[in-house]
Amino acid sequence: MANIFDSASRKNSVIIDRRVFDPQHTPPSLNHRDTQIRAMVLNLADALDGHIPGNMILFGPSGVGKTAASRFVAQQLEERAQIIGSSIYTHEINCQHVNTRYRVLHGIAERLQQPGDQIIPFTGWPADRVLSEAIRRMDRHGGVHILILDEMDQLASRSEDQLLYDLTSLNVLLRESRASIIGISNDIGFTERIPGPIRSRLSAEDIIFTPYGSEQIADILEDRAKIGLRQGSWNEVTIRFCADLSAKEHGDARRAIDLLRVSTLRAESAQCNSIEIEHVQSAHKQVEHERVISLLQGLPLHQKLTMTSIIINERNGVLTQTTGTIWETYTQACRFAGMKPLTSRSLSSIINSFHSASLAHVKNVSLGRRGRTKHVSSLIPRGIDAIGIMSEVDETIKLVANGTYKLQRRL
Ligand SMILES: Nc1ncnc2c1ncn2[C@@H]1O[C@H](COP(=O)(O)OP(=O)(O)OP(=O)(O)O)[C@@H](O)[C@H]1O
Ligand SMILES: [Mg+2]
Repeated sequence: MANIFDSASRKNSVIIDRRVFDPQHTPPSLNHRDTQIRAMVLNLADALDGHIPGNMILFGPSGVGKTAASRFVAQQLEERAQIIGSSIYTHEINCQHVNTRYRVLHGIAERLQQPGDQIIPFTGWPADRVLSEAIRRMDRHGGVHILILDEMDQLASRSEDQLLYDLTSLNVLLRESRASIIGISNDIGFTERIPGPIRSRLSAEDIIFTPYGSEQIADILEDRAKIGLRQGSWNEVTIRFCADLSAKEHGDARRAIDLLRVSTLRAESAQCNSIEIEHVQSAHKQVEHERVISLLQGLPLHQKLTMTSIIINERNGVLTQTTGTIWETYTQACRFAGMKPLTSRSLSSIINSFHSASLAHVKNVSLGRRGRTKHVSSLIPRGIDAIGIMSEVDETIKLVANGTYKLQRRL
């Protein structure tokens, strides 16, 4: 009798090493980021002589190698330091998860823990005491401490200003060691939100990471394919097709790698021994659908209300949506939900964030002496019921979606 696993045998599988598609996978070398890596090396080389390297902030959109480059440079720096007998410690902290003053300081101190040290509890000490303990441990190790604050923009809320103050003042307080900061952010405007005096203490050099072009993505994908996919199961034409799609839409290496991964799954489930363009096309559709659905589900309530308003306007035949027409529907929606609307300025920044997330296309238009407005159209793929998806996770949207709206077709 046939076994249900017979046809699921992995022998002819296209993928031979799944790890290359793992988001945590760190490639042994990093192509196409030479300029940024060189700028980081130039600053950090000072640490090898025991001097304080300049602070840096790595800026760029998602998936352009900021985290990968900072890890690569940190690892190379530590290796070099070991060879020449210099004391350098790099501490990577992801501020999306570790996002309060207490927890960041706790994270630094914990990494420098030695046997016999008092265990710092996760909460409960005054934060100043955690700071003193972190400083004591940094001094005990000596050398230069490089603090890598990934997703640093998550800290820029007002309550964490004190942390940025602490970290930018470390070199005044440290006696036997030195510290320097590498911040990473995909929001270029975030330094503007840091209070002036702290910003000037930080005086960081900006290192800009731009989205990858098609050739660059093709190289990145080929490197993964060579290790991860069976020889003969892929060719340059399909890789190039994947790269072209990715470069045209976002230039994000993470999403490009994921597109290749899903394409291989498509080939496998069609029992093909090689990945063809049609597999990439159908994977592309699936990936884009999944991305949009998870973005919609995760939007905060007022962003959901704004997206709902854009879609309601579209359904009601409003041909050119502007900030004004969205505002009109949004305020009605808030009334149905029994909520106070945000300011029109906040609405405008929500609309901009839809543009960055490719959920809507937003074009700034000048109205001459009457000022400026935006022309907005949603980019939700056909076949996705955005309001239905948001309603499933949020009762308020269900309530709002059933309302009757004043705004109708304007010709
Ligand atoms: N130049 C490159 N060569 C090889 N792999 C790369 C390169 N750039 C990025 N990658 C890979 O793409 C993925 C995303 O990169 P990374 O995590 O560094 O992006 P990021 O800029 O930090 O994005 P985010 O802002 O979303 O955190 C990782 O799996 C990384 O290994
Ligand atoms: Mg990152």
